Amino acid sequence: MSAEPSSPYGAPPHSESALRKPLTLHRLRAMREAGEKIAMLTAYDAASASLLDAAGVDCLLVGDSLGMVMQGHASTLPVTLEQMVYHTQCVARGNRSAWLIADLPFGSYQGSTQQAVASSVALMQAGAQMVKLEGGGWTAPLIAALADRGIPVCAHLGLTPQSVHALGGYRIQGRDAQSADTLRRHAAEVGAAGAALLVLELVPSDLAAQISADYPGITIGIGAGARTHGQVLVLHDMLDITRGPKPRFVRNFMQGAPSLLDAVSSYVQAVKTGAFPDEAVHGYTA
Ligand code: KIV
Repeated sequence: MSAEPSSPYGAPPHSESALRKPLTLHRLRAMREAGEKIAMLTAYDAASASLLDAAGVDCLLVGDSLGMVMQGHASTLPVTLEQMVYHTQCVARGNRSAWLIADLPFGSYQGSTQQAVASSVALMQAGAQMVKLEGGGWTAPLIAALADRGIPVCAHLGLTPQSVHALGGYRIQGRDAQSADTLRRHAAEVGAAGAALLVLELVPSDLAAQISADYPGITIGIGAGARTHGQVLVLHDMLDITRGPKPRFVRNFMQGAPSLLDAVSSYVQAVKTGAFPDEAVHGYTA
């Protein structure tokens, strides 16, 4: 006799997730201390959050990349706080144990410290455990204000997509001595302000390694080589759902994988063992 499905739309969230202990900031710091690499992926909905959690992904990022991936925009700039709140609520329902980070979208924190606090409160009430914001030294007072109010913060340096027009496109950052110095200074500032995590996007591997060695918290790289404390990719890129050419730092984990769960599990294993990224293939030089 075949088992009846419990619902016409698939199993409810959590039904398959291995019962691992929920990730905490304390545990993430211990992983850094122990040299255990941290695996992060983007998630925008309950089903993928549940799958990523079951596959052992440590951190889920409700990235404003959803503006490009889910909404089809050419940049992340049109994404609103209301949309981020909605997707964070969806991901929080599907997740059980991964650490949940949500992006503060463009225009939701640039105005003032009060605006940054109010926007962060909205994301935390939607289910986030940490908020992420982009930018260098000017964000330090915002980070300090949020951290003082008990809101954990992830900073984001290097290629910061919300500044795509100021940066002149999606290009590698910190390649010359002066911009590398600026990046090192910004990392020191956001670290001193209390950003527990720092995403480094599209920077030369050696520079990311130096910043990671000095950073008081945890660095997570995307196109930043293998020597950060963890890695993040956009889920739809590593599953090869997004069309067109991919940046060289992306690996297609669906290749040879019998299921989505296997593809995501092999990403987690590759990050943990150091097999991904391979700096010769996925990294950049100055
Ligand atoms: O929005 C996002 O998905 C991100 C990652 C690419 C780091 O910021």
